[in-house]
Amino acid sequence: MTQDGPQDGSPHAGPRRAVCPGSFDPVTNGHVDVVRRASALFDEVVVAVLSNPAKQGTFAPAERVDLIVASLAADLGRADGSLPAGLTVALVDGGLLVDYCRRIGAVAVVKGLRSGTDFAYELPMALMNRHLTGLETVFLPGDPRFEHVSSSLVKEVASHGGDVTGLVPDVVLPRLLDRLAGRG
Ligand code: PNS
Repeated sequence: MTQDGPQDGSPHAGPRRAVCPGSFDPVTNGHVDVVRRASALFDEVVVAVLSNPAKQGTFAPAERVDLIVASLAADLGRADGSLPAGLTVALVDGGLLVDYCRRIGAVAVVKGLRSGTDFAYELPMALMNRHLTGLETVFLPGDPRFEHVSSSLVKEVASHGGDVTGLVPDVVLPRLLDRLAGRG
């Protein structure tokens, strides 16, 4: 299939590909929920790890990719740790999200919205992306179970000894606690 799919709503012959972008530092159960639901809506989903210069990284980008793959595989019950066809995780090394989406032929970005605060943060980016190339953003309402869950809040709570079990995937929890304790 072509790598340069239309982003203007015109008929699209190939699979409908969406991108779930984010910092994922680290991936939370809220992220996993959104990716699973995006996968039910689109033929192909690419989880794109982009670094946000405004945010100090706890995990290196490649580590975030590994944690996302392991988390999604576990969520889907895939014992061998692989992801099904149509679901991939990619590291995007700089540049604009719209350029990446155009390169891989993605027709939409999918983002979860936990609250009005998320909407206020996400809306300008969605409008800017649409302004730049016509790339559309699909917002999914966050599952209320994860309304209070963000990577940064999970890290803050865990760094003070709070219990974040169930807020991040089981494969992430020990890695996060070790990292915050300076053990690896
Ligand atoms: O998980 P985050 O940190 O909220 O994700 C924000 C992210 C990485 C998706 C956003 O900062 C982004 O798209 N960065 C790529 C650079 C870009 O395209 N910036 C302009 C956005 S309108």
